[in-house]
Amino acid sequence: MSSLSVTDYHAGTGAGTLVLLHGFPVDRRMWDSTASLVDASWRVLGVDLPGLGGSATILPEPPTMAASAWAVREALEGRVVPGAPVVFAGLSMGGYVVQAAMRDYGELLDGVILLDTRSGADTPEARANRLRIADESEASGAAHAVLGMAKDTLCEASVQRRPELVEFQRSVIESQTGTGIAWSQRAMAGRPDTADTLREWGKPALVIVGQEDQITSVDVMREVAELLATDAFMVIPEAGHMSPVEQPALVAAEINGFLRAKFTAR
Ligand code: MLT
Repeated sequence: MSSLSVTDYHAGTGAGTLVLLHGFPVDRRMWDSTASLVDASWRVLGVDLPGLGGSATILPEPPTMAASAWAVREALEGRVVPGAPVVFAGLSMGGYVVQAAMRDYGELLDGVILLDTRSGADTPEARANRLRIADESEASGAAHAVLGMAKDTLCEASVQRRPELVEFQRSVIESQTGTGIAWSQRAMAGRPDTADTLREWGKPALVIVGQEDQITSVDVMREVAELLATDAFMVIPEAGHMSPVEQPALVAAEINGFLRAKFTAR
């Protein structure tokens, strides 16, 4: 049995399977509002990545994005629509997992959606900072060290005028365990550069970024789109790093347009 928790948002009517992977330090709840707006003909699944949300059990493998990607694959066994396209969508850390899946079992995927993520590895400073936060979180057993990300992941307008979103982010982050935070940080710290994987992809790809993303900027995401050689590059207004939390209707509209354009039988 898979160690990851999978949420069946809707069963679909056979068009294909869309798998939603969340960012850090949250869980699949960041996708809830968007998932309910995705084309009803698609089966939509949300996976809680290792150590987070309903997947609190820590994987026995050393922490890597590849281990997360293989755990996702295992969790999907028997759940994808047979003979229909499979599309992975990942935001930020979820995007790192999608890129590991593209590299390690890309033949099983028919398309990808990358949101608010990057292809570059960490700088030595960023890596050291992650490992420090990992140690701190493990020692405290809680998510305090990353609670500040509740605001950092939202755009200024959301922080000022949408207190319910700040509260949502805060409560989802606070519900994570210190060991889950530590596993994820260590996994992200060691991730490799994925530029070659993106260059070699050659299948449908959509790239989405919040206009005011302070963590993975519009320029960083433009680079991702260039590596993928896709012109499906969408900038979401009034959104920061968590574009599906802040603008679910706009993000869902982009996803639906992509699924329709690339996967509807003609
Ligand atoms: C995320 O949202 O998943 C994180 O910002 C990713 C990261 O820390 O690189």
